[in-house]
Amino acid sequence: MSSTLKSLRALSDPTRLRIMVLLEKDELSVNELQEITRMGQSRISTHLGLLQDAELVQSRREGKRTFYSRNQAADGSALEWVKPAVRGARELPEHAADQVNLRRILARRNDQQQLYFNQIAGRFDRSYGPGRSWQAFGQMLLRVLPPLVVADLGSGEGLLSELLARRCKKVIAVDNSEKMVAFGSAKAKKNGLKNLEFRLGDLQDPPLDPQSVDLAVLSQALHHAQDPAQTVRAVHRLLRPGGQIMILDLLQHHFEKARELYGDRWLGFAESDLQRWLEAAGFKKVEVGVVAREEQPPHFATVLASGER
Ligand SMILES: C[S@@+](CC[C@H](N)C(=O)[O-])C[C@H]1O[C@@H](n2cnc3c(N)ncnc32)[C@H](O)[C@@H]1O
Repeated sequence: MSSTLKSLRALSDPTRLRIMVLLEKDELSVNELQEITRMGQSRISTHLGLLQDAELVQSRREGKRTFYSRNQAADGSALEWVKPAVRGARELPEHAADQVNLRRILARRNDQQQLYFNQIAGRFDRSYGPGRSWQAFGQMLLRVLPPLVVADLGSGEGLLSELLARRCKKVIAVDNSEKMVAFGSAKAKKNGLKNLEFRLGDLQDPPLDPQSVDLAVLSQALHHAQDPAQTVRAVHRLLRPGGQIMILDLLQHHFEKARELYGDRWLGFAESDLQRWLEAAGFKKVEVGVVAREEQPPHFATVLASGER
């Protein structure tokens, strides 16, 4: 049978016309169509099958449910018949009630969604949200970074360096552990990151030319430095005018075991110390503040301190 004849046949039944009108606004499941039209499930399924055969309707599975919608990509000649047929269907005696029921069903869908978000408002930021992660936020924020030259000081294996290297012009990762440098270099090579270079060196005198860097990052590294104030001064020297320092470190704490467990030299820093060292080194626009707190004991807090040369 030609597609025109199939369409005409599919549209020749008042029940199928009612369904076509209902699928005009939104996709609907068989259950929803049942509730709206007050018809039995098998009757609806049969009619949907015929409309699908004529390619006037398409379906989409979501979990256990199937949603039906108008096939907007249907053959042009098929669509030609749909408009007048649907217009005629508005004269059917069931049309008014169908529309009232449709509005009710669609409103209920919205209410259910709102109910969920209303229930979790106030807890949402701390609860699980599918697909939502700090990693994803980080990747998004990276895209607004200009092509910078970055020094990642006390880089470790280069978790952050690798992330930055995917966007930045060049990343120089500095660490005083030979093994970290060797491991990080091999990983960067394996991942094809040609703009990421690992160098063996000390935080207090990083192996970088003066005024050669746009951004210097010290992530959980400063509390390993012998002299944190001197490290901040050294970073000031290697930054270009306008360059920025970003220190992520632990807020001062009393968890002595951190020395043994994590090899820490300092038990975090007071915000006032970081502020003082940055200002004394000559940084402008200094900002220091706590940006995260752990829920588990010993409740480490992370402080972010930044400044501009
Ligand atoms: C806690 S890890 C942080 C690694 C990385 N920045 C991160 O956030 O995942 C500290 C790193 O600093 C390095 N480190 C410790 N003292 C250092 C020093 N004086 N100079 C350079 N690197 C140092 C260690 O080898 C280690 O890789």
